[in-house]
Amino acid sequence: MSATYRFPRGFLWGAATSSHQVEGNNRWNDWWEFEQAGRLPYRSEDACRHFELYESDFDLAHSWGHNAHRLSVEWSRIEPAQGEFSTDALNHYVDVVAALKERHIEPVVTLHHFTNPAWFTRRGGWTRTDSIDLFRRYVEAVSSRMADRVRFWVTINEPTVYVTRAFLKGNWPPCQPGSWLRAGRALRNLCRAHTAAYATIHKHRPDAMVGFAHSTPYVVALDPGRRLDRFAARLRDFVHNDLCFRLLGQTPRRVLDFIGINYYVRQLVRWQLGGTAMLVGKEHKASNPSQSRKFSSLGWEVYPDGLREVLTRFAAFGVPLMITENGISTSDEALRTEFIAAHIRALALAMRDGVRVIGYFYWTMFDNFEWTEGPTARFGLAAVDPATKLRGPRPAAGLFESICRSNEIQLNEPHRGTTRQ
Ligand code: FCB
Repeated sequence: MSATYRFPRGFLWGAATSSHQVEGNNRWNDWWEFEQAGRLPYRSEDACRHFELYESDFDLAHSWGHNAHRLSVEWSRIEPAQGEFSTDALNHYVDVVAALKERHIEPVVTLHHFTNPAWFTRRGGWTRTDSIDLFRRYVEAVSSRMADRVRFWVTINEPTVYVTRAFLKGNWPPCQPGSWLRAGRALRNLCRAHTAAYATIHKHRPDAMVGFAHSTPYVVALDPGRRLDRFAARLRDFVHNDLCFRLLGQTPRRVLDFIGINYYVRQLVRWQLGGTAMLVGKEHKASNPSQSRKFSSLGWEVYPDGLREVLTRFAAFGVPLMITENGISTSDEALRTEFIAAHIRALALAMRDGVRVIGYFYWTMFDNFEWTEGPTARFGLAAVDPATKLRGPRPAAGLFESICRSNEIQLNEPHRGTTRQ
């Protein structure tokens, strides 16, 4: 068996971003209101100024050998007040996509990445059934303008993460902790909104590839010998990994042209009495010094084999997969480089075994506004100077570039790519 895995021709390689995290001045959405109300120690403010700097950012992606890029369009810019669509905002995103195409970079466009227009949240957001129709109308506005240039679409980013944070943990807008009923309704509506968006996009572009980005932690019991840990892990796994597919209410193959896989972490789960954890277990985060386990700066365990497991599992749906996010927040640049090589090796092993994957997107292109972590999380292939906004590439960008350009990876040994600086 060859020690080198060659990815299929046309495999998509790039980085992923989201509008609120990079654009700056997204003042019409619920996150902006949440930040301005002083609910967090951080504010997104002008973020990475990607709204103005997108062309030079795409020059950078091109110089890194990326042939694809995942970005999100900001609903609150496009529909700042209910029913009022902004031609300027739509034109902006048409220009953004054109700028990618000019550089031979395939756009993958996300329609909803956690933020909602403030008016939408104020009237009840995703807990209301008419949210589906409001979203469909927005998707109609976007896809009727952009579907001729955009083939790959992600409807909703991580529905389970959104509802958990908004309605269970309650530390994201609309900040309603412990609202199980609302969480259930919102998740059901998000899944139905996906289905509505799927049909809308296909109306404008029959050969479109439409999926949603699913958060897919690799969930296992902390102590496999303990029945309650196993039970808690099974429940957490069901809620995070399976529930969305049950709620799609159709054979997933009829409403998904691909499944977006956002993979970051292995979660070791132990049973705990009381609170949300009672249903889904408590994640065990402490590192165990007796093993050589590695963690990101957010305490997420680095576990590349989990990617292979997750890919093999979701391949069973019979549609191609796309790794829409995979990355690490760290200030240890050797660890970031190792993380990328090890995960792409795990991806290659899954593909060698027959799993169909059409792309890989590193999260993220440059450090950005990382939700409740604000600017403290560092996932970027490049750092961003807070004053000048200059992008400073990190060594991992060079390693990733060598993989993107060669379209292959060594399976047996740590990847020796070109490194910068
Ligand atoms: C994912 C989100 C993305 C970013 C990364 C670290 O859950 O989709 O916006 O926060 O995690």
